[in-house]
Amino acid sequence: MRIDHYLSDAEASSGVRALPSGPGADAERLPGALLAPLSGVTDLHLRRIARRLGATAVVSEMVAAEDFARGTAEARLRAEGEGVLPHVVQLAGCDPHWMAEGARLAEANGADVIDVNMGCPAKKVTGGEAGSALMRDLDHAARLLAAVRGAVAVPVTVKMRLGWDHAALNAPELARRAEDLGLAAVTVHGRTRQQFYTGRADWAAIRAVVETVSIPVVANGDVDGLEAARACLNASGAAAVMIGRAAVGRPWLVGAVAAGLQGRDAPDLTPAEQADLAVEHYEGLLARYGVPMGVRHARKHLAAYADHAGGLPAPERARLVTTTDPVEARGLLRRAFDADPAAPAAKQAAPAAKRAA
Ligand SMILES: Cc1cc2nc3c(=O)[nH]c(=O)nc-3n(C[C@H](O)[C@H](O)[C@H](O)COP(=O)(O)O)c2cc1C
Repeated sequence: MRIDHYLSDAEASSGVRALPSGPGADAERLPGALLAPLSGVTDLHLRRIARRLGATAVVSEMVAAEDFARGTAEARLRAEGEGVLPHVVQLAGCDPHWMAEGARLAEANGADVIDVNMGCPAKKVTGGEAGSALMRDLDHAARLLAAVRGAVAVPVTVKMRLGWDHAALNAPELARRAEDLGLAAVTVHGRTRQQFYTGRADWAAIRAVVETVSIPVVANGDVDGLEAARACLNASGAAAVMIGRAAVGRPWLVGAVAAGLQGRDAPDLTPAEQADLAVEHYEGLLARYGVPMGVRHARKHLAAYADHAGGLPAPERARLVTTTDPVEARGLLRRAFDADPAAPAAKQAAPAAKRAA
């Protein structure tokens, strides 16, 4: 099945609740680039901007299914998707009952796709037998996927690692079970849980998953531009790439990579247009969380925008990430994107797809 089938079906959110999926589905591909779920980072505003700028799809931060089903404010905020189509909500947990409840509620609130987290390596998640810990017990993982699949009509996907460790590279087996249960796609981060984020993602190892299932496989890990995306797709045979850390501070990167992979021109954003997007993100956070909390939440984004833009001397950068005055922060953020008069003209004129490379 083509990744764009899966996504465009979800996109027709009012009508399409079933996916043309399963073995024997069309193998033709239009490669895409998705924004990865990043807990504490891929808030609604970042996702909106990335999607608007051409990301094939964007995924919410992981939402603890039980907290969400019980109605906690933080889980609700994480699962918001107004203005994002398709709205992909990632759920984390280890109890089939709560995962199903969370999925039902997410669907009722407008989710177009439910993604299940089986990749998070953090001790506080794996300690609760959720995230990548589920890869240690595939029978339980399958029960969880079956519960979610049975609870909703929208497509269900799963994001995993290569395995718990190199002694148990069981992503192909988990993906096969996911496909048998009717899941629509799988994403594989090319590391084991025991690697956390060390070393390099092994894109070639993802090929074993691609060769095992007919549903789309999305390859993830260390893709930071068009060249890496092409290399990742070549090595893995995947239908799409998913980009996480490299998109922080430049959410337009994902759309630029998607366009490059599809042979289209990416929008050629000027530094001033990039600054507008960064300010839009900042203001969205202030509006959503209120100024005191929004300012704190925005700091990591401000630092990332400034670092990618490269235009702020150290003292001003320090001020940008500590000021509690939104007017000052906005001014510094815009200054960070000011065209550097010493920079070669080509740097400013390069199309976004080329810059993404
Ligand atoms: C700060 C941070 C938060 C993350 N949060 C999540 C998450 O909520 N759900 C998830 O499936 N993966 C999460 N991940 C993993 C990423 O989605 C992705 O698999 C990983 O960063 C590798 O991709 P990258 O090299 O493009 O960043 C997180 C990673 C980071 C660095």
